[in-house]
Amino acid sequence: MAAGELAGMRVPVPSVVFFLLLLAAAARGGSALTRRDFPEGFVFGAGTSAFQVEGAAAEDGRKPSIWDTFTHQGYSTDGSTADVSADQYHHYKEDVKLMYDMSLDAYRFSISWPRLVPDGRGEINPKGLEYYNNLIDELIMHGIQPHVTIYHFDLPQVLQDEYGGILGPRFIEDYTDYAEVCFKNFGDRVKHWVTLNEPNIEPIGGCDCGYQPPQRCSYPFGTNCTGGNSSTEPYIAAHHLLLAHASAVSLYRQKYQASQGGQIGLTLMGWWYEPKTDTPEDAAAAMRMNEFQIGWFMHPLVHGNYPPLMRSRVGARLPSIAASDLEKIRGSFDFIGINHYFVVRVQSSDANDQRLRDYFVDADPFEEGFDEVHFEYHPWALGKVLHHLKLKYGNPTVMIHENGDPDWPEAPGKIDYDDGFRSEFLQSYLEALYLSIRNGSDARGYFVWSLLDGFEFLFGYGARFGLCGVDFAAAARTRYARSSARWYSGFLRGGELRPEKPYVSL
Ligand SMILES: *[C@@H]1O[C@H](CO)[C@@H](O)[C@H](O)[C@H]1NC(C)=O
Ligand SMILES: *[C@@H]1O[C@H](CO)[C@@H](O)[C@H](O)[C@H]1NC(C)=O
Ligand SMILES: *[C@@H]1O[C@H](CO)[C@@H](O)[C@H](O)[C@H]1NC(C)=O
Repeated sequence: MAAGELAGMRVPVPSVVFFLLLLAAAARGGSALTRRDFPEGFVFGAGTSAFQVEGAAAEDGRKPSIWDTFTHQGYSTDGSTADVSADQYHHYKEDVKLMYDMSLDAYRFSISWPRLVPDGRGEINPKGLEYYNNLIDELIMHGIQPHVTIYHFDLPQVLQDEYGGILGPRFIEDYTDYAEVCFKNFGDRVKHWVTLNEPNIEPIGGCDCGYQPPQRCSYPFGTNCTGGNSSTEPYIAAHHLLLAHASAVSLYRQKYQASQGGQIGLTLMGWWYEPKTDTPEDAAAAMRMNEFQIGWFMHPLVHGNYPPLMRSRVGARLPSIAASDLEKIRGSFDFIGINHYFVVRVQSSDANDQRLRDYFVDADPFEEGFDEVHFEYHPWALGKVLHHLKLKYGNPTVMIHENGDPDWPEAPGKIDYDDGFRSEFLQSYLEALYLSIRNGSDARGYFVWSLLDGFEFLFGYGARFGLCGVDFAAAARTRYARSSARWYSGFLRGGELRPEKPYVSL
């Protein structure tokens, strides 16, 4: 109810209650939610990642990542590559202008390891250094904060070939050296660092189900892999990612943080698992899955070790954390990034037949909890993730690093300006986020996925997430603002969250 409506109402008898309501409404300046209702300094932005939008795959000294190899072998969902994609490498100035016109506070992007350090270690590529310096300077000149992910899936192929990439312990040292190149060269201007994007998903896609590079898996968890062990390798890969993260944070804190004054964290996929039925078995399965996905990293980050439930179920297959690493891992974050999309309904696998139960004795991480998957979108699920982080992990500072809704174009070149469904989606999640903050969660930022259409890891160009569209049929990769970009920009300039359907605050 808006203050104007109340004021226009005929008040039958002098009513203290109505007068108080009127005062309360006036004190809030009306009841529509605006960005001023979010905490002071709350950052609104949009994101991309290097492999997904940069293009220029073989230009200026960049060498292949495992994703280049994978897509060139024809394995992406739609057979496409990201050789050109949205071509941000050549259009970054235009893209920063788009962000500026939209009034974004911040841009979340990632640095391409094979562009900056093409051989994985050693020589820095001067052209790569120049590109990221230019992009960062352009952002800062327009008053837009760079929020930088150091590693977002695009591992240099050469490290995969040499020692199996994230499956090799050498990854920890090479990653730390590469992260130092970033801190040293960009840390004077970058104040928000993310070490890794979704280390709780990369081992599942790459070393468990095998549908993403390096395509490792074992029957029955994946069927088309030439090597791998889904019961052991995902845990080993995640262990190396965790240690690499802790090592980079420790280095940043020792050598750079005091003088550069930045913050550092990591970003997890924050799906939420809900029981499919109201049986205690399904409730336990959902709890297990949240533990196997969120707890896999949050428990060590907060307590130094893997969750007791994982340790008891996975046993010797779960690498143990050395006492010397425990202190490095514990507390190794200033904030936690959360990528939130959907709710997964889970059913207890204990209800399965004997054949499946045999497999689950030696299970992979993704299927510890369930055998049936249903994905649903519910804004309250974001609230549940934040509530869970608050209760279980000491209410960490959180940045919502990804949240968004895809469109499924019928034709590859289709241009769609009107995406009212996307504005509606984002509005409902921002309302849920607002409620969580009022409830005590320490969320300090929100980034729409994504700024631009690009190559999607799961869908190629078959799903469009952009506030701004890209005409992939045009050589110039023309950008165009969708209606959601105009809505977001209006909101960021102080307009109502739901200009057409005012939101009534609780
Ligand atoms: C495995 O590969 C075959 C042949 O390329 C393909 O038809 C099948 O869909 C693949 N199975 C999975 C689960 O990816
Ligand atoms: C995976 O490793 C475990 C533990 O070493 C072993 O028991 C299991 O047989 C292996 N599975 C495959 C498919 O190699
Ligand atoms: C708010 O906190 C209460 C009490 O802890 C909890 O029951 C509720 O689910 C929370 N709601 C949200 C949106 O976080």
